[in-house]
Amino acid sequence: MKFGHFDDERREYVIEQPETPWPWINYLGNEDFFSLISNTAGGYAFYKDAKFRRLTRYRYNNVPMDNGGRYFYINDGGTVWSPGWKPVKTPLDHYECRHGLSYTTIKGAKNGLEAEVLYFVPLKSWCEVQKVKLTNTGSSSKSFKLFSFMEWCLWNAEDDQNNLQRNLSTGEVEICGSTIYHKTEYKDRRDHYAFYHANTPVQGYDTDRESFIGLYNEFSGPQAVLEGRPRNSHAHGWSPVASHYFELELAPGESKELIFLLGYVENKEEEKWESKGVINKKKALREIARFDTPEKVERAMSELRAHWDRLLGVFSVRSGDEKLDRMVNIWNQYQCMVTFNMSRSASFFEVGIGRGMGFRDSNQDLIGFVHQIPERARERIIDIASTQFEDGGAYHQYQPLTKRGNDAIGGNFNDDPLWLILSTVDYIKETGDFSLLDELVPFDNDESTAKPHFEHLKASFNHVINNLGPHGLPLIGRADWNDCLNLNCFSKDPNESFQTTENKSGSTAESLMIAGLFVVYGREYAQLCRQIGQKEEAARAERHVEKMVDAVKQHGWDGDWYLRAYDFFGNKVGSRENEEGQIFIESQGWCAMAGIGQEEGMVEKALDSVKERLDTPYGIVLNNPAFTRYVIEYGEISTYPPGYKENAGIFCHNNPWIMIGETLLGRGERAWEYYQKICPAYLEDISELHKTEPYVYAQMVAGKDAFKPGEAKNSWLTGTASWNFYAISRYILGIQPQYEGLLIDPCIPAAWKGFEVVRKFRGAVYDIKVRNPKGVSKGVASVRINGKEHAGNLLPLLPSGTHQIEVTMG
Ligand code: BGC
Repeated sequence: MKFGHFDDERREYVIEQPETPWPWINYLGNEDFFSLISNTAGGYAFYKDAKFRRLTRYRYNNVPMDNGGRYFYINDGGTVWSPGWKPVKTPLDHYECRHGLSYTTIKGAKNGLEAEVLYFVPLKSWCEVQKVKLTNTGSSSKSFKLFSFMEWCLWNAEDDQNNLQRNLSTGEVEICGSTIYHKTEYKDRRDHYAFYHANTPVQGYDTDRESFIGLYNEFSGPQAVLEGRPRNSHAHGWSPVASHYFELELAPGESKELIFLLGYVENKEEEKWESKGVINKKKALREIARFDTPEKVERAMSELRAHWDRLLGVFSVRSGDEKLDRMVNIWNQYQCMVTFNMSRSASFFEVGIGRGMGFRDSNQDLIGFVHQIPERARERIIDIASTQFEDGGAYHQYQPLTKRGNDAIGGNFNDDPLWLILSTVDYIKETGDFSLLDELVPFDNDESTAKPHFEHLKASFNHVINNLGPHGLPLIGRADWNDCLNLNCFSKDPNESFQTTENKSGSTAESLMIAGLFVVYGREYAQLCRQIGQKEEAARAERHVEKMVDAVKQHGWDGDWYLRAYDFFGNKVGSRENEEGQIFIESQGWCAMAGIGQEEGMVEKALDSVKERLDTPYGIVLNNPAFTRYVIEYGEISTYPPGYKENAGIFCHNNPWIMIGETLLGRGERAWEYYQKICPAYLEDISELHKTEPYVYAQMVAGKDAFKPGEAKNSWLTGTASWNFYAISRYILGIQPQYEGLLIDPCIPAAWKGFEVVRKFRGAVYDIKVRNPKGVSKGVASVRINGKEHAGNLLPLLPSGTHQIEVTMG
């Protein structure tokens, strides 16, 4: 069952009914100011950091679902309704929500009155624009009342929820014409305030929640709205809100547009005040003036559209399969941008206070984004590397506002360092900018320790070889990519977190996943060293990589697949000898991508075992059989009920590793089958089961052992986005940036006749037409560049302008 449809022309998903199986959301904002918005206008806004600079309040996991947002209420002759259906939930005559690229429009109509609200954050601004268009579609004139509404968060979103003994006394506002300023704590340590402005004179307002809503009413029926009478309240402590009130009249066919602005301002210490106790509003007024007419708003929207044209113009495909095209050309790339911006901090599953920017997560997010804005990718790599320790180890996350690493969700994940090699190499291959390697980058944000970025990569590489276990395989530390495989935790106490507890300090538990990862990125590291003339370092790295290959072959093979790990006691994990958890996806993926034992048939066997043991109609599960009891020596993984999350859920992040492995074997059908199974556009028809948005990937889909296989959770912020884009663009369609040029090496189903890709790369446009006359899955028979035969499938760097590339497979 569908709840809407794709409008590819406008790059929108159109939701046709408000009661989706779960709030289907969108993200506004591209750089500093961000908002989350659901299809019923729920969500919140923040500046840079969803924990420390939360502008508006939101209540997670509440009843009803999706509680709080920027709402508009209409009181039309006693009938009260909202354009987004919620929060009032009065049945509408018409409803439509269009989620587009960094904007959302929500339209509702009732009794001949139509209200359309456009929400977006203009480029280079610190505000959210809300343009409300009201139209009288009836044949007689209409008088009605409009209320805006949102609730301020007292900045620190965590404190806001729990430090009530303080918070209920600190709230402060200023009201000035049609602008409501939120200035809690501005008089002491804060250099920032927020404002909610309307470009039309108000006939009333409210800033105190209790006065507006009534103590025992709900968002669905604020007292002021029901009575059609604002209270003109001034908040002193308790819960400050912002509501504008208008009395409007529209002739038949007439429309009126009102513009609202939710903004954020920072002032220097000496510029904080206009007069005693009165905040300096200069910057707010400047921002307001930028968007105070429909024309200015339209201009800002055009700029936003042009921005997305540019970003999406770097890579686009024409395959003849509209679902594939819309994912690759629009939604998958869009999601990559969102994960790049948010890491794992704020979604409808991540509350914005628990996790900041993940070290491993953000490095991986980068591979789906680097082609779009390489400058931002470069900056991000430096931010991440600046939190690294001198021994190559890493904080698991850092806070976007402070850019300082922290241990709040644990540390000592031994895969972390290697992902820095991935992001750096990917950035250089995209841009050719080797200067990044010379950039002075501190360790643990201590400038006195700064060394060229290259030294960070060396430290990452060395961190693995300095932490090898008894079989010469990498020690796992707290865990590897799988946060929940905690082989040193031994936790018995429900009050301690698996993420931060380590009850035994182990130097036995080893990871085959890190081993595979090390072989892949160790080789990349060696290749990079050769590129910059560091031959000895390259040779040293290669020796270690070869040793690792041997160690995996000798100690990491279980007969039909790669083992997953050795536990604290040196016992095998992910072996047929185990009762449960006999085979795991991660080591199959990485050892296959590393090609370990390919000549001996290991890769093929391992991937066949994945097909046989882990594949399901909805994707590949993480492990099998699922754990049915708590295994103390494995930790959190065995705490999940079978079929969920890391315990045999379909963890979509790792499915592309198998797809890539399949393409390296040349098995195009398999890779494509796996691609389609988890790709949201192909799941649109089963939205009632899939539950989350049909335009973005979810982190996890319930596996075959679950109560409801196929049901997704945790959409948006997941490495699934970048890895799927990586798999489809570089390995299935096979367009791979290299240091010297663009490699074309597709691996597709034999039945495909071909496809076309436009790829902008290092200043030139490669207009690539791939034909497959012999019906092969892999192999390039000939290449022509601008009509001329070219030997091999590595396209050289070409001068600016568009170049016609004809590729014939065979
Ligand atoms: C985390 C990743 C981790 C994955 C698997 C995600 O929630 O963000 O860092 O690799 O779970 O455990």
